[in-house]
Amino acid sequence: MKTAIALAALPGFISSAQAQFYGLTALHSGSPIHFLPVNAAGESLHLGGISTHYCPEDFQQEGGCPNTVMTNFGGGNGGLSMGALVPGGQMVYVDSKCGAMKYTQPHSAFIPVGASTDGFSFTQGPGFGTLSWGNGFVACNDTGDGTWSVYAVLPNVTLPDVPRCFGFDAIATNETKPAAWEYT
Ligand SMILES: *[C@@H]1O[C@H](CO)[C@@H](O)[C@H](O)[C@H]1NC(C)=O
Ligand SMILES: *[C@@H]1O[C@H](CO)[C@@H](O)[C@H](O)[C@H]1NC(C)=O
Ligand SMILES: *[C@@H]1O[C@H](CO)[C@@H](O)[C@H](O)[C@H]1NC(C)=O
Repeated sequence: MKTAIALAALPGFISSAQAQFYGLTALHSGSPIHFLPVNAAGESLHLGGISTHYCPEDFQQEGGCPNTVMTNFGGGNGGLSMGALVPGGQMVYVDSKCGAMKYTQPHSAFIPVGASTDGFSFTQGPGFGTLSWGNGFVACNDTGDGTWSVYAVLPNVTLPDVPRCFGFDAIATNETKPAAWEYT
């Protein structure tokens, strides 16, 4: 399992036969977040909206840019990586002040003091996988643009209740390749 995590953090080293990337979708039936996709936008994870990607022009000209408007992920046993091609990858981390789920900038391993990159677990079912975090995931409508911020619940952080925030299950669907060169 350790090997799989290490490989997932280095997308360039994964052979296509072993690649395991997945998009995430929120499930909470009867809530406004049911079936919203988890997207990367502005260095943090959101439900809804669009994924913010960047791909350098020279790769674009060579046709090397993933042609998607989605966000996907790799790993999830311990650490969780963004499905990004950029050398060095991008890691998801959990902010210690509020539990917000964020990700490292391209070409930087900087993670704020106290933030956690560990503690995720991924289980593969017959039809789909599930990404888990000890105290669960919650989405809150605090962005002001109609999207929802994604939080990994921390034991010492109290998030607002329904209808501002909703807990959800993060359901994973298999994808074969990273969805972006890098997420911005
Ligand atoms: C919650 O606990 C963690 C670990 O002890 C700590 O790093 C973090 O600052 C705490 N957060 C808050 C909001 O108190
Ligand atoms: C997803 O990929 C995993 C690992 O390769 C595999 O075990 C599982 O059957 C796949 N699930 C689907 C629905 O294709
Ligand atoms: C979030 O939800 C609350 C409760 O429904 C609502 O009052 C508020 O206007 C919403 N905020 C945003 C930014 O959508």
